Amino acid sequence: MPRKVILDVDPGIDDAVALCMALFNPGLEVVAVTAVGGNVPPAQATRNVQVILEQVDPPRWPRIGAASEPDEPLPVDGRHLHGIDGLGGANFEVAELRSRHPSEKVICDAVRADPDSVTIIALGPLTNIARAFQRDPELPIGQIVMMGGAVSGPGNITPTAEFNIYCDPQSARKVFRSRSTKTLIPLDVTNRLVLSYDLFNRLPDESTKVGSFLRKILPPAFRNYRRQFGLEGIHVHDSIALLAAIRPELFTMQEMAGDVETSGNLTTGATVFDRRRVPAWRHNMAVVVDMDTAEVMEQIVRLLSDAARM
Ligand code: RIB
Ligand code: CA
Repeated sequence: MPRKVILDVDPGIDDAVALCMALFNPGLEVVAVTAVGGNVPPAQATRNVQVILEQVDPPRWPRIGAASEPDEPLPVDGRHLHGIDGLGGANFEVAELRSRHPSEKVICDAVRADPDSVTIIALGPLTNIARAFQRDPELPIGQIVMMGGAVSGPGNITPTAEFNIYCDPQSARKVFRSRSTKTLIPLDVTNRLVLSYDLFNRLPDESTKVGSFLRKILPPAFRNYRRQFGLEGIHVHDSIALLAAIRPELFTMQEMAGDVETSGNLTTGATVFDRRRVPAWRHNMAVVVDMDTAEVMEQIVRLLSDAARM
């Protein structure tokens, strides 16, 4: 029985790669893809979700949720890495955007249709999930798997904060404090893996829809990463988070007590964990602390190659 998942995304190059891995995976039923502002503004994120689906044309189309404006204007975006349109500046055409329900409504409807059975894989700011809880405080989500935060390593958008949490720390705190079963994949682990050129050359070729799409969006990201970080490759944070959801045996997890700082010039968006010898905070999530990096990379390439064959 395929596992029911919702992907909540702010595409975003690594969101797009994760979507390609998930949409063709026979072990997953992607019941919805819900857009959220982050790497790009909300309207662009919604457009990009439709672009990705039209470009790769999965066997089963999920429902699409439209991103709405967050309560506070987004403090940053990711266009310096992901391109002006969030997809490498490829300027894809898109069919007319049908009117969509807001992401938080799509999440509530999908979860209520299958109580305690849907996994939300959150790959952007946590705005939609916090709003879903606002609409339906007892929302019976099976599991929330979140890419975000940092445990002992630095942030990536400020010295203390990771991008997804920093974009909407109030929502992140609400989700961290929710009673749902949660798993966090932080930068400490996702920064260890770089998708390099030789791995890029192993991806499906232009004759496939997935291969053609990836070969349009990835080269500009490689250029941006080289220019900004001197890296010969790109991070794929969201692909790793997706794998942690579907292949947890490749990861080492530890129960922790985590929360989010929502104020402070230097600390807003920081994720804080009680790791004192005798913690006072109650454990509220499983945190990925290690992974089989070589196998995770192999699985990313394999899932993308499988996607191209379908
Ligand atoms: O910090 C990395 C995260 O922020 C990834 O999800 C990336 O897509 C951006 O959303
Ligand atoms: Ca993302």
